[in-house]
Amino acid sequence: MMMPSTLGGRSPLFALSVSAGFVLIFIFALMAWPSRMTFGASHMYRSYRYAANSKANVPISEVIKLLYQNIKAAPSEPFIREPNGSHLELPPNPRYTKNMGSDVLILDLETRPLKSTEEYNNGEYEWRNLNHVSGGIFNHYTYALVHGYDYKFIHASEFEDRHATWIKPSALANHIKKYKFIVFLDADAAFRFLHVPIEWMLNYWSIQPHHSFVMAKDPWSAREPQFNSDRFNRTYTNTGFMIVQNNENTMPILKAWHECPDDTRYKNCSQWKRPRFHEQSAFGEYIRYDYEQYIKELDCGEANGYPGVDISNCQGKLIRHYWFEKKNVKVDFRENIMNAITLPIQRVFAENIGGIVQEQEENIIH
Ligand SMILES: *[C@@H]1O[C@H](CO)[C@@H](O)[C@H](O)[C@H]1NC(C)=O
Ligand SMILES: *[C@@H]1O[C@H](CO)[C@@H](O)[C@H](O)[C@H]1NC(C)=O
Ligand SMILES: *[C@@H]1O[C@H](CO)[C@@H](O)[C@H](O)[C@H]1NC(C)=O
Repeated sequence: MMMPSTLGGRSPLFALSVSAGFVLIFIFALMAWPSRMTFGASHMYRSYRYAANSKANVPISEVIKLLYQNIKAAPSEPFIREPNGSHLELPPNPRYTKNMGSDVLILDLETRPLKSTEEYNNGEYEWRNLNHVSGGIFNHYTYALVHGYDYKFIHASEFEDRHATWIKPSALANHIKKYKFIVFLDADAAFRFLHVPIEWMLNYWSIQPHHSFVMAKDPWSAREPQFNSDRFNRTYTNTGFMIVQNNENTMPILKAWHECPDDTRYKNCSQWKRPRFHEQSAFGEYIRYDYEQYIKELDCGEANGYPGVDISNCQGKLIRHYWFEKKNVKVDFRENIMNAITLPIQRVFAENIGGIVQEQEENIIH
């Protein structure tokens, strides 16, 4: 985590973020308290719910913004620090120097409604019991709040003739027109660092205006050489994390991809309607060969996999994708939020705000 240079001073921003920390903890405390009762009928809970929606209360978007305003990395921050002290350094002359705000859409896409929403509507909420889908999606939404990006959760209907993940190309096509970039993540993928903006990653990966797609490769292993490889022995790119840039080739690519299983432009693409890896295989087998120069393929470790994966060093440097131990997507989210909340608490102790730290010079009873 970056320690900003403003951190030492007692700026008004600092005071704000300290109070934001308390507001958030207060909200969490309020939520935790009635959850121990069956609060479906509890008027306590109801009044909290109304209060949260009223103007008198600080909405969560403001709380998140305040918590992160001093710890956000700038789009062209020269480097960011990993928790173990290593630095990730930007190459020289970063292209993206300004936050793109609502020109960026963070996109979630599901055919299922959130299970946690159903539970919430029955008066139950418990972070500890949340499944990975809500955990990942809350990470994406929070990331959008931190950086002021647009956010959408598209609830798509099922296809009758193909696997659910085929919803990706049409959903991307239907929203890209209004944005410069869409950042799409599967529910088991997450931003490793909520404080690092997407502009910084675009700089880090040297994304150019002609790139329509950015995706990370899947791992390759000698034990199963064909598992993630196309028919030319080239490793697939994973569609669980995609940056889609709005340029002249984007719509043609999305259309070609969406229509691939029609078998008109791409013979036999329909074989991927149901078998794994569905739209991901179609993209790897066919689409990328027609649009090679517009697709930026990242090494697996940049934006795929998670710590502990050995093959191809896929350890999710900036984007994590938990193919297997999916519930760990919640751990990344939790570590980020805990860091943001406990920093202002640490400041209280470091700067002795409110005189809570008292010296006892002589250990005697007065
Ligand atoms: C820190 O962790 C990263 C992986 O996130 C690794 O590449 C790097 O070598 C580690 N640095 C140190 C000093 O251990
Ligand atoms: C397939 O590609 C891998 C590298 O991705 C390489 O090690 C292997 O030798 C290739 N196999 C064939 C049959 O060309
Ligand atoms: C089409 O795909 C099927 C697998 O679904 C395969 O068995 C068949 O050989 C393919 N046909 C051609 C012409 O490639």
